[in-house]
Amino acid sequence: MKVIAVMNQKGGVGKTTTTLNLAHALALQGKKILMLDMDPQGHLGSCFALDTEINSGMDEVLMTDKSLNEAIINVRDNLFLVPAGARLGELETQNQGANKGYRLHTALADMKAEIAQTNAEIYDYILVDCPPASGLLAMNAILSCDEMIVPVTGDYLALQGLSRLIKVVSHIEKTLQRSTRKWFVLTRFQKQRKLANQIREKMVNYFPDQVFETAIRENVSLAESPGFSKTIFEYKPKSNGAEDYENLALDLLQQRTFH
Ligand SMILES: Nc1ncnc2c1ncn2[C@@H]1O[C@H](COP(=O)(O)OP(=O)(O)O)[C@@H](O)[C@H]1O
Ligand SMILES: [Mg+2]
Repeated sequence: MKVIAVMNQKGGVGKTTTTLNLAHALALQGKKILMLDMDPQGHLGSCFALDTEINSGMDEVLMTDKSLNEAIINVRDNLFLVPAGARLGELETQNQGANKGYRLHTALADMKAEIAQTNAEIYDYILVDCPPASGLLAMNAILSCDEMIVPVTGDYLALQGLSRLIKVVSHIEKTLQRSTRKWFVLTRFQKQRKLANQIREKMVNYFPDQVFETAIRENVSLAESPGFSKTIFEYKPKSNGAEDYENLALDLLQQRTFH
C-alpha cells in the first residue's frame, strides 16, 4: 500500500486532474486505488458529482474519531474516494490539538490495522490530492506519504514556485531525517512551444530520473470531463488526455523516466 501525495503549493498546475485521471488509469489496470481529497475546495468530489456541502469526509476523519474506512465511497470499479467534506478548511485555521501534522498519518495507520484484522483487500495506491497551499493540510500529506508526484506546468513562474516547494519539503525531511521519493510530471504541455521544452530540459537536469517519461499535453477534454462527472477514460477515451494519463500510469508502475 503506497501513499502518494500529488503536491504543489501553486494552484492550477493539474494536481486534481492528475489525481483523478491517474487514479482511474491505475484502476483500469486492475489496481485497487483510494483517493483522498485534502483540498477544502473539494474539487475531486465534484468530479464525481458529490456535493461538498452535504458529504463529510476528510474533515471528520481528521477532526473527529471517524475512521477512513467509514468515510470511503466506492466511485468506480477498483476506485474509492474520501471527499474533502464541508469543514476541511477549518483544520487549516484551528489551533488546538497536539500532533496536528500527524492526523492523516494516524488515520492511515488505523486503516491499515483495520484492514489487516478483517483480511480485507488492501489498496495498491492511495493518491492524496493536496491543496494549493503549504499549510497544515499539506503538512499532513507530506508526513504521511511514501512518495510525491509534483505536477509542473511549462512556464518560468512554475519553476520559481517549484524551488520553494523543494525547500519546504527538504527542510521537513531534514528535521525528520528521512527522504521521500519524488516524481515530477509536466502538465498542460505544449510540445510546439520552445519554452515548454526548455523547462522539460531544466527539470531533467535538475531532477535526473525523477521526471516521468510522459508529459501530459494540453487537452481541452481534460478540462471538460469533470463537468460531465466523468474521468477522461469515460468522457473521451480516444483523446490525447486519455492516452497521456494511461501512459503516466505505466510510467509509475514501471518507474519510467524521461531521458
Ligand atoms: N492537460 C490539461 N489540458 C487542459 N486543461 C487542463 C489540463 N490539466 C488541467 N487542466 C485544467 O486546468 C485547470 C487547473 O487544473 P487542476 O487539476 O484543477 O489544478 P490544481 O488541482 O493544481 O489546482 C482546470 O480547469 C483543469 O481542467
Ligand atoms: Mg486541485
